[in-house]
Amino acid sequence: MKIREIIYRVESCSSTNDLAREMAIEGAQEGTVIISKEQTKGRGTKGRSWYSVKNKGLYLSIILRPENSNISLLPLMAGLAVKEAIFKTLKLSIGLRWPNDLIWKDCKLGGILSESSFLGNRVNYIILGIGLNLSQKKEDFPEEIRSIATSLKLITGKIVDEAALLRNLWKALNRWYLLFCQGQGHKIVWSFEKNSIFPPGKKITVESEKGLTTGIYRGIDSFGGLILEAGRKKTSFFSTEIKAITHEWRERKCF
Ligand code: BTN
Repeated sequence: MKIREIIYRVESCSSTNDLAREMAIEGAQEGTVIISKEQTKGRGTKGRSWYSVKNKGLYLSIILRPENSNISLLPLMAGLAVKEAIFKTLKLSIGLRWPNDLIWKDCKLGGILSESSFLGNRVNYIILGIGLNLSQKKEDFPEEIRSIATSLKLITGKIVDEAALLRNLWKALNRWYLLFCQGQGHKIVWSFEKNSIFPPGKKITVESEKGLTTGIYRGIDSFGGLILEAGRKKTSFFSTEIKAITHEWRERKCF
């Protein structure tokens, strides 16, 4: 089954992830995509909202039904695919911030929201939501995120050819998803580490339910967890348990 075999386009919805979930519950097949011109209740990770102004961003969700239950790799895979599609379309090389952020010079350009449903220990469905800022000006973002958000238009000065971007995205997603389904997750991990804005060996601080842990970033494990070495002990953290990650090795301004 190919991602984009069936594409539903809507003018507006609360959240494409919500629409996709309803469709998945009703039996929509793997590879179904929902794209909306706007979202009235777009959602980000950790209960945040995703500001989704009409015709300025890409808001889409994909229904997946993988046999492979190593699903923490899916947001990493989606990030890689979006990065590749942006590079193919605009020759622009963006960075990835574990686990789900698309980054340009420390500014957020987009993000991935992966939501899952299991039946026992089998995946029932995964909704992979992708949000990408296309043509927002600084004043299109709410004031509280203006200094940390960017768009492809702000970076390149051009309006991106959305159809070309989507064509490249489907190609990249299908290639990465096939590797995922074939159990070649190590390729996702390896590639994500290579494109991550956290260089291995640098000091980072992870804020989790257990408090703050400062240590050395040692890459990503085979389940997509972030490996932190603190006091000679290596611990893997998963996105669900992390509130924030901070680092000190560089101070770069978004523009
Ligand atoms: C994040 O970085 O916090 C994740 C943002 C994900 C936003 C996308 S837009 C399409 C899909 N529908 C939503 O409500 N959220 C995701």
